[in-house]
Amino acid sequence: MTVQTEESKSSNEDWKPKIIAFLCNWCSYAGADLAGVSRIQYPPSIRIVRVPCSGRVNPYFIIKSLTDGWDGVLISGCHPGDCHYLTGNLVARRRFAILNELLQFFGIEPGRVNFMWASAAEGERFAMLVRKATSIVKKLGPNNKFEKKW
Ligand code: FES
Repeated sequence: MTVQTEESKSSNEDWKPKIIAFLCNWCSYAGADLAGVSRIQYPPSIRIVRVPCSGRVNPYFIIKSLTDGWDGVLISGCHPGDCHYLTGNLVARRRFAILNELLQFFGIEPGRVNFMWASAAEGERFAMLVRKATSIVKKLGPNNKFEKKW
């Protein structure tokens, strides 16, 4: 049994997860931009990679992000029916559902990879999603399954 000292408890509270966020150019990236210009606060835990569509996120990107040592992965695209490439987000959602099961099979905790929708007009929702993803990953703790590259 591991006994947490006061020092380790406080270092856990201070720990900030590093989350890589793949955001679709047309909706979620614009939503992040809106959150920024509207000065809506959200944790500085994400590093954004702009992709043309959530359907462009190859499952390999997610696996590579985790093996490279990112604590969490966030994929966000347009709401169903709003994808600029018609069904890219639906393909991404199906792909993610399968990948999620595979990741759990390999011991990656549910919640370390999150898939969400946010439109260009939803800056507040985007900020809320980042807060939620950060809180989930923070509860899971650092991604120690793989050797850190940094
Ligand atoms: Fe945004 Fe396809 S263009 S998810």
